[in-house]
Amino acid sequence: MSLALVIDDEPTICWAFRQMLEGRGHRALVAPTAEEGLAALTPEVDLVVLDVRLPGMDGLTALRRIREKRPDLPVIVITAHGTMQTAVEAIKSGAFEYITKPVDLAEAESAVARALERRAVSAEVAKHQAEGDLGGLVGSTPAMQEVFKKIGAVCVTDATVIVTGESGTGKELVARAIHANSKRAKKNFEPINCASLPEGLVESELFGHEKGAFTGAVRTKPGRFEAANGGTVFLDEVGDLPQPAQAKLLRFLEDRSFTRVGGTERLTADVRIVAATNRDLRRLVADGEYREDLYYRLNVVAITLPPLRDRKADVPRLVARFLQDGGHAGKAVSEAALETMLAYDWPGNIRELRNAVEQAVVLSRGGPILPEHLPPRLQQKAGGTDGESAKQLVERWLAEAPEGAAWDAVSDRWEKLLVEKALADAKGSLSAASRRLGINRATLRRKMERFGLRGEAET
Ligand SMILES: Nc1ncnc2c1ncn2[C@@H]1O[C@H](COP(=O)(O)OP(=O)(O)OP(=O)(O)O)[C@@H](O)[C@H]1O
Ligand SMILES: [Mg+2]
Repeated sequence: MSLALVIDDEPTICWAFRQMLEGRGHRALVAPTAEEGLAALTPEVDLVVLDVRLPGMDGLTALRRIREKRPDLPVIVITAHGTMQTAVEAIKSGAFEYITKPVDLAEAESAVARALERRAVSAEVAKHQAEGDLGGLVGSTPAMQEVFKKIGAVCVTDATVIVTGESGTGKELVARAIHANSKRAKKNFEPINCASLPEGLVESELFGHEKGAFTGAVRTKPGRFEAANGGTVFLDEVGDLPQPAQAKLLRFLEDRSFTRVGGTERLTADVRIVAATNRDLRRLVADGEYREDLYYRLNVVAITLPPLRDRKADVPRLVARFLQDGGHAGKAVSEAALETMLAYDWPGNIRELRNAVEQAVVLSRGGPILPEHLPPRLQQKAGGTDGESAKQLVERWLAEAPEGAAWDAVSDRWEKLLVEKALADAKGSLSAASRRLGINRATLRRKMERFGLRGEAET
């Protein structure tokens, strides 16, 4: 049972809402003015229905006051018919939904149901938030709490979400958390990596194809959007989507309809889109590589994940989590090892930390994790190659490399320097750097990801 507060000076509307709410097993408080409504806004209230036209304090002002007092509370606003501007204002001021007068009871009922449903889920999220843990996401720093709040707000909607952040910051984990906390949780979560699909097959992969659409299309095949019907599609590395597929995706985002490759019939799929990228889409748009209209369609709700170096206070908790995940919950970590981890900048973010912890568990065998069990790069100061000859570098790197894996360890380090240099010369442009190096962009991006380097995506 929930408690709703109805603020309206028209007794018939209050009466209608009370009937409807009580009919659904809820309780209702009514107030004829904003002032009285605000006075009645106790912590027990789960929902507010608010008329914007009130004697005394007007509804929009009241809405802002309510949002200040109880930012988590859904407010349904009632506006006069044809006053679109007020409705827009109300939504901008944080109203959950608006309905117009004359009030259609079915519409009111469904708005109330959705608002209460949101309350229920947000409380669930809040519980995890307090524990600094949401769907496997660890984070108690303010930056991550902000992220959790956003997840809590979007998971009860069907809004398209774009998750941005450097490589390894947890974009996919966030997408999964949104899905798992949404009403689509029991349906598929369909991850699609837009960068790894061969260019000619992107469209067929996403939207399917009809038999005979191209050589090799021996039978009709539904696409990933169809497969995810009712669920969530995770478009990873959405910045790498080739232009023709961008056009089709845009069309799909507009009305959730599409045609299979080689087909004419318009089909629909009910899916929620969560996209992710570690590239700066605005920059791609400016460079003409990305459709501006698609950018806006994707950018409905943006969640930006902070790099780990900006939230190092989460490191101890993350380490504990990774030890626990690996079945080493009680394993000791020396103070010095933790200090080393806190001093490091983690260019590869949480993924790099996770790998470091997993490796340290192996190297430390039964004992506590000590600094020497951590990757050598953690021990070094930035730019630690200055003044050393190539021969000295190779000697030092070889000495620091783990036994039996020296080739990869040493090669990685000079490759990283090379990639860094090429990117710096190209002012961060992946295209220019890959041309210069004579490797393709996908290869370059893979290397950058591996080495935790950033190019034009972030500056
Ligand atoms: N907040 C977090 N709490 C616990 N583990 C996390 C968190 N964020 C990320 N991880 C872990 O870090 C690793 C990388 O996360 P994820 O794959 O989601 O990153 P990503 O941003 O998608 O990276 P990329 O851009 O390289 O694809 C995973 O093992 C994930 O479980
Ligand atoms: Mg990812």
